[in-house]
Parts: sequence; C-alpha cells; structure tokens
Amino acid sequence: MEFATRTIHAGQPSEPGTGSLVAPIFQTSTFEQDAPGVHQGFDYSRTNNPTRARLETVLADLEGVAHAAVFASGLAAENAVLQAFLKPGDEVVIPPDVYGGTYRLLTRVFQPIGCTVRQVDVGNPEALRAALSQRTRLVWIESPTNPRLLVYDIAAICAAAHAAGALVVVDNTFATPVFQQPFAIGADIVVHSVTKYLSGHSDLIQGAVLARDPAVFEPIKFLQNATGAVPSPFDCWLTLRGLKTLELRVLRHAENAAAIADALAGHPLVRRVYYPGLATHPGHAVARRQMTGFGGMVSFELDGTVDDAIAFVSSRRFFALGESLGGVKSLVCHPAKMTHASIPAPERAAFGLSDTLVRLSPGCEHRNDLVADLIEGLDRVGQRLTVAAGGRTV
Ligand SMILES: Cc1ncc(COP(=O)(O)O)c(C=O)c1O
Repeated sequence: MEFATRTIHAGQPSEPGTGSLVAPIFQTSTFEQDAPGVHQGFDYSRTNNPTRARLETVLADLEGVAHAAVFASGLAAENAVLQAFLKPGDEVVIPPDVYGGTYRLLTRVFQPIGCTVRQVDVGNPEALRAALSQRTRLVWIESPTNPRLLVYDIAAICAAAHAAGALVVVDNTFATPVFQQPFAIGADIVVHSVTKYLSGHSDLIQGAVLARDPAVFEPIKFLQNATGAVPSPFDCWLTLRGLKTLELRVLRHAENAAAIADALAGHPLVRRVYYPGLATHPGHAVARRQMTGFGGMVSFELDGTVDDAIAFVSSRRFFALGESLGGVKSLVCHPAKMTHASIPAPERAAFGLSDTLVRLSPGCEHRNDLVADLIEGLDRVGQRLTVAAGGRTV
C-alpha cells in the first residue's frame, strides 16, 4: 500500500456494528467489565483507550514499525524516552542545534539528577566518536534541525552510536514520515511533536514515541501508563482526522517552502537562507540521499538589527507570529526570543543561532501570497534602514 493510502486505510476500518465510516471518539474514562479483570482489552483510559490505540496503530504503520505510544505533548513523549533509558551517571549526546525544550529538559531535569549531556557536532565523525563512551546510553538528534535546518547523516550517526552500544533517537517532527523514514536507516527510537505536521491544524498538543524493538518499547509503554501523560480521546481523534491529509499537506508545505527559499536567497536584505533544498545548503547532498523531499520549513538571517527582525516578524499579513509550526496556517517566529529563549544567549551565539534569525513555517496558502508578504516585509526593513542612514541607501 502506498503511503497516502495508508494514512487513510491503515488500521482504520469502518466501525463494526454500525458501519460508521469514521471511527467514533471513545470519550470515556473507564470500561464496564464482565467480571473483575475480565474485559475486552480496555479497562481504564489512562492505560488504554480505543481511539488512542487506533492512532497508535496508524502512526506505527506510517513510520514502518510495530510499536507506538502517544503522549499529551512532544515533551512528555521525550521525557518518557529519557526516563526509560537514563539513570544517574549515564550520558546522552546531542548536537548544538536542538529544540530549546529538549535542551531544557535535558539540562534542567536530567542533568541535575546526575546525567551528563554532551553537546557536540554529531555531523563531525571524529567529534561524535570522541563524545561516545561506555556511559553513553542515547544519541539524540533532529534532522532537519530546529531552527537552522541542519541535516545530519542519520545512517552514519547510527553506525557510530551502535558501535559504542548507544541507542539513537531521531526527532522526526520536521521531516515527517512522508519525507524521512529513520527506522529504515538505523534509528532505534523515533519521537514526534504530533502538535506539528502530523496533526497539522494548530489545534492540539500531542507527542509520540515509536520503536521497532519490543524490548526498547516496553519501558516507554510502561511509563505512558505509570506517569500518565496521555492525550484525550478527542485529541487523538483530531490527529486521526489530520493524518488523512498528511501527504497532501506536507507536499504543499514543501512546495511553498521551496518557492520562499528561492525568493529569499536572492534578496539583498537576506544574509543567509537555511533550507535543505538549496544546492548551497551544506546538508543538501545528505538530504537528497536520506529524504524524499526537503520539508516545509525555511529559516533565514536578516541583514539588519534585532529590532528589524522583530518588526519584520510582528507585521506579516499571512504569517501569524507564534510558537509552533506545521499547521495549515502560516507561522513566523523569532527563535532567539521565542522557541529557543531557554538556551542561554552565549550558547546560542556559540552555535550560530543569531538574534536576526527568522523561522518560517509556510502553511497551505498559495505560495504567491506568502512570497509577496515576505518581500513586502523585507522592503519595509529596507525603508527603515534607509531612514536610519539619513536617507542614504544602505
Ligand atoms: C523538533 C521539536 N521536537 C519536540 C517539540 C516539543 O513538542 P511539544 O511542543 O508538542 O511538546 C517541539 C516543539 O516545538 C519541536 O519543534
């Protein structure tokens, strides 16, 4: 079955009994039992719920494995993985470019209980090898990364990590299973902020963990129930609805992102564009090899001041200023003051996350409107700079 067909048919038969084409929302906390402990596979909705189980089946199918657990947020999903595999004294290796919330979780929750977080350029094989030790339990990567859209060679990182006895976790939020299948190239665990492209409409918060090996999955499944950060049946149903158009939406997002990257790349007020689809992107060749599309996100550095960047992101017509990404409605964000503010300024500067970096999440609007809106914003920045220079063109 092709991917788009699976988003609609995998694990989603019409409802037996009524023939309802769309699965009902099992909005219940508990289930009546025939005798104590005798039930139809569901006893309490924190432990399991038919709507959530259906979503887990679909997500597992789309990532090409047998096991998925859905959580109340992407960070709850990440927390379950970290709790399952890290104990005091253990080490985790991460790249410099990692979602700010992941960094905060590692450095403010797991580091204080005695875990060591090694932040190295995992794209440099020597640096990665040097960072790995007998204590390394996890190598945690995103690709493409948030917010600079760096691309890491997942297969190479998995080979190095596995040789050192560590598991590799890939945050596949940006690429989505439409464009990237991490398990096929060696990943042990995939995590998602389902909040983004998978649900796709900016109307819920949700996360997921997927694993191929039942022994790797078992402690995560245990923690889903034991710590209880589960999503509501209604939110699971919304994601099931969103997933049916995942491929359609993501192809459109990517088409819009490519048009925007091209338009920005030639603009005099744009210092640098980060988009894996550009031949000038340092990860372009790897992206071509390990992805079937370049994703829907574009970031760029404005050639201006922080105030120019703030004015730009605050006054777009079609790009709402907001955290998050991956919805049908376009979003823009200023990572240094928003998504990545939890990373201290010197550390942001050290790994090149500048204060004029702008991150765009093009939605499913028409690309002409989106490009026009951005060019209009850049023209305004140009006018501001001209005024600031006393009328001289800068
Ligand atoms: C790449 C990535 N991973 C994980 C998360 C966390 O997900 P959530 O916000 O659903 O908790 C985010 C949120 O922005 C993200 O961008």
